[in-house]
Amino acid sequence: PRKIIIDTDPGQDDAVAILLAIASPEEIDLLGVTAVAGNVPLPLTQKNTRIVCELAGRPDIKVFEGCDAPLSRKLVTAEHVHGKTGLDGPVMPDPTMPLQDQHAVDFIIDTLRAEPAGTVTICPIGPLTNVAAAFEKAPDIIEKVQEIVLMGGAYFEVGNITPAAEFNIYVDPEAAAIVFKSGVPITMMPLDVTHKALTNKARVDAFRNMGTKVGTMVAEWTDFFERFDKEKYGSEGAPLHDPCTIAYLIKPELFSGRHINVEIETTSDLTLGMTVADWWRVTDRPANAMFMKDIDTQGFFDLLTERLARL
Ligand code: BDR
Ligand code: CA
Repeated sequence: PRKIIIDTDPGQDDAVAILLAIASPEEIDLLGVTAVAGNVPLPLTQKNTRIVCELAGRPDIKVFEGCDAPLSRKLVTAEHVHGKTGLDGPVMPDPTMPLQDQHAVDFIIDTLRAEPAGTVTICPIGPLTNVAAAFEKAPDIIEKVQEIVLMGGAYFEVGNITPAAEFNIYVDPEAAAIVFKSGVPITMMPLDVTHKALTNKARVDAFRNMGTKVGTMVAEWTDFFERFDKEKYGSEGAPLHDPCTIAYLIKPELFSGRHINVEIETTSDLTLGMTVADWWRVTDRPANAMFMKDIDTQGFFDLLTERLARL
């Protein structure tokens, strides 16, 4: 199995991503989960991360608390999408499993230093603050990262927090710029992909009908989460953004895209956080990211349902 660290800001779709990873031990060895401020402030994202691990019956998973604000900006949150707690929907008990003492940034650094080079993948599914902070603090770890598989950005699908920017990149564009310039192989799941990973009634019913606690919770989370996209965009259901990263690690053939240059806008007020993707290769800037654009949607949901049913 591939060793991974998930960096997250749960978030109902983050929760599903964590569950998918836990449910797939043959492909994924989850070394730890690091929480970052994003959809909601850090005290809630670290708590929500522990709620999800406990729901999966895995209180032994190491959960770390990271940065409580972007590198150089004020935190922007998304309660309008995820609710006040970040995990609105079902009422969940407070977690009892521990939060690790170590700071998430130090956990990322120590893990990459301890493991053989090229054997640890980082999966950021929130703003890139923790990962960029680790690269800034310990540049020696950069060349040791196997791959970064992240949810963030958009190009043809433009933005969801501003007309030009996707939320995760917009919240900490300086962090995103550090990561995209780092030279680490990047695979990105932008809105172009994730807006095709839409729930519908049959897909949510498949979760609900599992007859397990996990199935019921995931159905209730998506019921809450789809409200926003349905009302705002008239879409059929909820986009399960973040689980696309984990699905890629399990079944990469579900996704297709191009290896191209992607730059992050960090100065313009109008297009701050835009992922400027050279899809048509009209510049000679070097390719730095595998920009995914398409997904086998039914294959993705089949995988998700099959895996979540194991929990
Ligand atoms: C991203 O922002 C968050 O609201 C979701 O959890 C996802 O990571 C989508 O733009
Ligand atoms: Ca997220």
